[in-house]
Amino acid sequence: MEIVIAHDYEEMSKISAGLIAAQIRKKHDSVLGLATGDTPSGTYKELVRLHKEEGLDFSKIKSFNLDEYIGLAPLHPNSYNYFMQENLFKHINTVPANEFVPQGNTDDPEEFCAWYEQKILEAGGIDLQVLGIGRNGHIAFNEPGSSLASRTRVKALAQKTIEDNSRFFESIDQVPRFVITMGVGTILDARKILLVANGKKKAEACAKFIEGPVTSQVTASALQLHPFVTVVLDEEAASALQRKEYYNWIRDHKQLVQKKIGR
Ligand code: PGA
Repeated sequence: MEIVIAHDYEEMSKISAGLIAAQIRKKHDSVLGLATGDTPSGTYKELVRLHKEEGLDFSKIKSFNLDEYIGLAPLHPNSYNYFMQENLFKHINTVPANEFVPQGNTDDPEEFCAWYEQKILEAGGIDLQVLGIGRNGHIAFNEPGSSLASRTRVKALAQKTIEDNSRFFESIDQVPRFVITMGVGTILDARKILLVANGKKKAEACAKFIEGPVTSQVTASALQLHPFVTVVLDEEAASALQRKEYYNWIRDHKQLVQKKIGR
């Protein structure tokens, strides 16, 4: 796991957008896994800038979003479909038919989940999966106790997540209790993974998943089992890490490290 500690949210967003842009430039028809939330919105803003000012071309990419609330139609302002349209898709040149976000108002969520997994397979699998992390250590909506082998399915949200996400709704009672989410196993199938996190409120979860044991109680810790994970944190999110000096030394000597390990 490569840990990159940025000074602040802006730098974190620039670094993570740079990694996504590098993936797209290397493989024009990359399949991206995308996340929603406050964390990646700065990254998406920077991707929009790269598209508008530097011509970053999204016309051949496919994207699959991690999750969606059950019961919210795609045009609902609190849906993740809507978030993706507003924060990214409508500002860049992705092809709508290639923008996959789980459908929260499907009649048959279980069948939908199987279809979604199939679509990811047919696309050739995800090249780069972008993730945020919840205060309880979740990735996507894989709440504590989720199987580390889980696939896309329906999940009930944990109380902590409902409280965290209530800031987007008029009242906490309006937060949907159920979601469609990619599983931990689905996420681990991606060829590369990029997790972004910022703010003091994420410090404990970051320390646990980066330096603690692999456990279904902190589903992000499953990323320790994946060979190509980059974590980009701001200083606040990194504040509880024990080995900060080591990560910073590697970041500051990257060229030397790349030469030694041949990457
Ligand atoms: P946030 O959500 O980016 O809005 O903090 C992250 C998450 O819950 O996965």
